[in-house]
Amino acid sequence: MESVSHEHRKFSPNADFVKNAHISGEEAYRKLYEKSLQDPEAFWAEAADELHWFKKWDTVLDDSEAPFFKWFEGSRTNLSYNCLDRHVAEGRGDKVAIHWEGEPGDARDISYAQLLREVCRFANVLKTKGIKKGDRIAIYLPMVPELAVAVLACARIGAVHSVVFAGFSADSIRDRVLDSETCMVITGDGGYRRGKMLELKKIVDEGVADCGCVKDVIVVKRGEEHPVDCPMQAGRDSWYHELVADVSDECPAEEMEAEDLLFLLYTSGTTGKPKGIMHTTAGYQVYSYLTSKYVFDLKPDDIYWCTADVGWITGHTYIVYGILQNGVTQVMYEGAPNHPDEGRFWEIVDKYKVTIFYTAPTAIRAFMKWGDHWLDGKDLSSLRLLGTVGEAINPEAWMWYHKMIGGECCPIVDTWWQTETGGHMLTPLPGATPTKPGCATVPFFGVEPAILNDEGEEVPAGILAIKKPWPGMLRGIYGDPQRFKDTYWSKWGGRYYFPGDGARRDEDGYIWILGRVDDVVNVSGHRIGTAELESVFVEHPDVAESAVVGIPHDIKGTGLIAFVTVIEGRAHDDHLRKELVGMIDKSIGKFARPDRILFSSDLPKTRSGKIMRRLLRDIAEGKELGNTTTLADPSVVETLQKQYSEA
Ligand code: WTA
Repeated sequence: MESVSHEHRKFSPNADFVKNAHISGEEAYRKLYEKSLQDPEAFWAEAADELHWFKKWDTVLDDSEAPFFKWFEGSRTNLSYNCLDRHVAEGRGDKVAIHWEGEPGDARDISYAQLLREVCRFANVLKTKGIKKGDRIAIYLPMVPELAVAVLACARIGAVHSVVFAGFSADSIRDRVLDSETCMVITGDGGYRRGKMLELKKIVDEGVADCGCVKDVIVVKRGEEHPVDCPMQAGRDSWYHELVADVSDECPAEEMEAEDLLFLLYTSGTTGKPKGIMHTTAGYQVYSYLTSKYVFDLKPDDIYWCTADVGWITGHTYIVYGILQNGVTQVMYEGAPNHPDEGRFWEIVDKYKVTIFYTAPTAIRAFMKWGDHWLDGKDLSSLRLLGTVGEAINPEAWMWYHKMIGGECCPIVDTWWQTETGGHMLTPLPGATPTKPGCATVPFFGVEPAILNDEGEEVPAGILAIKKPWPGMLRGIYGDPQRFKDTYWSKWGGRYYFPGDGARRDEDGYIWILGRVDDVVNVSGHRIGTAELESVFVEHPDVAESAVVGIPHDIKGTGLIAFVTVIEGRAHDDHLRKELVGMIDKSIGKFARPDRILFSSDLPKTRSGKIMRRLLRDIAEGKELGNTTTLADPSVVETLQKQYSEA
């Protein structure tokens, strides 16, 4: 990220935007931010008061069992009620909640009242299948409205959803299902991607074949036009459309306790095993609501579009929960950005008159590469605010977004946050914070960041820490409280949250994210642990050892380079390479394929046997090697360097 260290351009929001914004001007932000730190409980109680509670809380924050913080204890509420019933009760039932567009061009407009009915119906289906509060349900669906319906139906009756992104493999489904003992899977016969039908049900069948805990599989039919081979297993599988036809469209929302588990979302860490991040009810509800309202400056007339998939945290918080709680209209799109051509996103913005557009830097870089002519004839003048998420955005891409999409008048909110944080943590507020290309700028209300060294001292550049608890924070790792403590709270003796990112502070006090300090990478906005790939490779009988590193990539942000040591005497050729790629497809999903696999006779190690990934990154980036004095055998890197440049 060298290019950001000398980035000094600064862009202030235009006067009109500032005038009409929820948080208007820097001074307003500063005052409210200070208030949120001085008296967080008063700040969060005021925010929570904007929502519906069956019973209000006794305490806002209970930190007596830190790091197992509790928020809004004593309250009873329901996320699906706040996303749906509240709007219908207040006369917004006819407003469009979702303009849905399928990849082939089929479209549906769903009002808040309709969405409520569909959610109630499906919640009743879940009940007739015997689902109870606390049961875990896996959801493996394309971006169809039923995905939002299924998520909200779980929330309505207190079932815990575990959405698995529909690009994951059968093995990944199995791991997640077994880890959380999921009793039901909701899937589809297929989903469209670049004109093709992905056969999802087959992947589920393979994934759950040996999972005795799965009693039911409910299948949404997406393939009316292109029938998909979708064998139904008697006694286990049923069609969604048949089930919902037989039930009532009324289903009262369950009164949930504040810390009742709302969902699990598996994400990558530094080991080979993804962790089930736990988010609970009341705190996540308030945090997703307020960050959406202020960061996207949501107003009743907005047409919001987030291009993420509900399979990732961005879709959970900023398609489903945060956005629907704010009662705005949003666009939901099923397919690829380049189908039928590279102008598809801009056609959608033009068609629905999108006002707020939220996407990933990797998509922006792809648009830049595809060429500006795809914007010809598309009217983007409805846009008033742009956002990015998932990885740092390079200043070049930021400037292109600003000029070509924002017409130089839309603020850009570069939002830094994580699956674990539940919602935005560092971000400009669009009517208040002057922005800088590539910079996530300032903390959201109630968030107290610091940049520390390993000893916990404040430094200008180092490791990002979060000093105070916030309502949207994860509550644990499913089934593994120790891993939760070790991963997030042990770095500075249990005092601060450790997100795993490096950061630096500039002369204005703005925070720049410098990338992960652990072995987690973001490839095209998909979070992957390099250890996950390594543990797959070493399962191959011919592989002795492997190390995977992430290096900068023009489009994907990070590309993956795998160094694989083959057992002596075994062939290392393209055939083996293909087998290894096939194993990644099967164990994780195609999106995790490495860009290059390099066979090596050995890997650079310290005398105590630790692989020096830093040197592997230098080799892969073609850089001058860093300090090699701790290497057990310095000749290893020379050989590797030579092999790398010749391969
Ligand atoms: C990275 C995605 C720089 C970061 C919401 C974080 C970012 C990880 C940004 C979490 C940003 C996310 N600038 N880096 N605006 N947003 N990241 O859990 O490394 O999929 O730790 O959540 O993405 O990825 P996750």
